[in-house]
Amino acid sequence: MTQTNYPPQHVAIIMDGNGRWARKRVLPRLAGHKAGGENIHTVAKIFAGYGIKYLTLYAFSTENWNRPRAEVSGLLNLLARKIGQETQAFYKENIRLVHLGRRDRLSQKLKEKVQAAVALTKNNAGLTLCLAFDYGGRDEIVQATRHIASAGIPGDNIYESTLAQYLYSPDIPDPDLIIRTGGESRLSNFLLWQAAYSELYFTPILWPDFGLKEVDEALSEYKRRQRRFGKI
Ligand code: FPP
Repeated sequence: MTQTNYPPQHVAIIMDGNGRWARKRVLPRLAGHKAGGENIHTVAKIFAGYGIKYLTLYAFSTENWNRPRAEVSGLLNLLARKIGQETQAFYKENIRLVHLGRRDRLSQKLKEKVQAAVALTKNNAGLTLCLAFDYGGRDEIVQATRHIASAGIPGDNIYESTLAQYLYSPDIPDPDLIIRTGGESRLSNFLLWQAAYSELYFTPILWPDFGLKEVDEALSEYKRRQRRFGKI
């Protein structure tokens, strides 16, 4: 069977390896996150150039709160700064920013920056860039279930399509390809519902080093995959 849906519509990335990238250079871990943060815009532009419509990046998981306090605040401050600095550029490049995750545990400052960035870019029709932070796949399913329960929908009326409608971004198609950098081969609570039929691609390259050549390799591998979605 030949690959009929190339390029993929939606690519999602677990951006792992910032800490090791920094350690190799005898730098603090946050310097690795800073380099990783700087790579986001570069990689978004590369994928947009390949015709990808949706790019989802895992920036901070519900489990990342358990890292040392200085790293947590460093990461969240970096995120707030990045969103503040880059929103205008995203806007001009026709990129729509979407947030996937909880907002109730974010600082007021970060919440405001996210709301402003999402509102400013909401009518952009180029790449949709979804930043997943304070995101967990299990948490997303729990939140969806709570909403369904509080909407009073009876059990017999709950279908897969019902649950999908209550996820963080029901208008975004499931990822065709999930890439994880940094050498580990697991999903780490990322897009658990949406990943049911995603192609998975693992690379040892550390996130700050992931660039044009690596995107090209991942997409070439995706092109070779046969997607059957449970059929034959
Ligand atoms: C994993 O590397 C990466 C993260 C936990 C955070 C990802 C964050 C960024 C790429 C930058 C911040 C985001 C934005 C949007 C500015 P790790 O720390 O687990 O690396 P290691 O496995 O080498 O220790």
